[in-house]
Amino acid sequence: MWKANAPANIALIKYMGKNETCNKKNIPLNTSISYILPKYLSFVEVSLYEGDSDLFVNNSQLSTTLYSNFSNNEISRFLQHAQFLKEHFEFEKNFSIKSWNNFPTGIGIASSASSFAALTKTIVAAIVDLKNEPYPSNEYLSQLSRVASGSSCRSFFQPWSIWTPDKAEKLDIPIKDLITSVIIIDKTQKKISSSQAHKLVRTSLLFENRPQRANFRAIQLIDALKNSNWQAAYKIAWQEFMDMHALFHTSDSPFFYITPKSWQILSEVQKFWEDNNDGPIITMDAGPAIHLLWRSDQSQLLTKFNPT
Ligand code: DP6
Repeated sequence: MWKANAPANIALIKYMGKNETCNKKNIPLNTSISYILPKYLSFVEVSLYEGDSDLFVNNSQLSTTLYSNFSNNEISRFLQHAQFLKEHFEFEKNFSIKSWNNFPTGIGIASSASSFAALTKTIVAAIVDLKNEPYPSNEYLSQLSRVASGSSCRSFFQPWSIWTPDKAEKLDIPIKDLITSVIIIDKTQKKISSSQAHKLVRTSLLFENRPQRANFRAIQLIDALKNSNWQAAYKIAWQEFMDMHALFHTSDSPFFYITPKSWQILSEVQKFWEDNNDGPIITMDAGPAIHLLWRSDQSQLLTKFNPT
């Protein structure tokens, strides 16, 4: 039996829009930068299976703090990626696959990044063990994982990761040990998945220079973080997620994730910064949840926003 886990990640510079002309899957049009969410983990367990094809076992015997209730669509994505990895390594036996998360889906943390990173690690470990081959590098695993879900390729590097259209890798930033928190706004399943959003944003008139804007902000963010300019990093991250949501709002047809409750918290965070001249970096993904990142010396401020 082989087991591995991988963490979720939150992007401050977003992957939004894929290169449709490239023959590889999930190649981004712009650089993205993320921070790991070490508390939010996916686990995968794999064993050899004698049946005719791979089997995904939805595990209902888990404790109340572990979640494994995958939809048919999620299960078929898992099995498709397992098949891709087996073909890649020219491996013909079948696997039985179990997976679970230590966080529920629908709370605003993308489980696909951590799930596919964990699946890639586990299946590859099993194959190379059985074939007596060396375990590949994180860079290599990251590229394989990207094929299943783009953002998963950043989950191989901690705590900061940078993903250019070429590859994802560790980003060396002196500010580490951030305290990450998520404010859950709405637990209902989102209507537009991030994979659909990648396509829809292309219909926005604002999309034309989007890669340039994101790439420029990536350079600015690295510069701000390397110079410990936290306030500049906050402003860049704010402009970036608002830019991505503006694409959503101006697509044909438009779609929205920001709810009145999200707006209320966004304005409270902005006011907090005005009053204190300090505060958290804030960002939102393709969902209503709000992610806050605090420096470790700000821990006394943390309770202000009722984190999870
Ligand atoms: C808004 O990685 O979920 O979270 O490659 O189609 O699986 P696929 O998309 P996915 O997109 C994530 C988009 C985002 C921003 C980000 O994480 O960079």
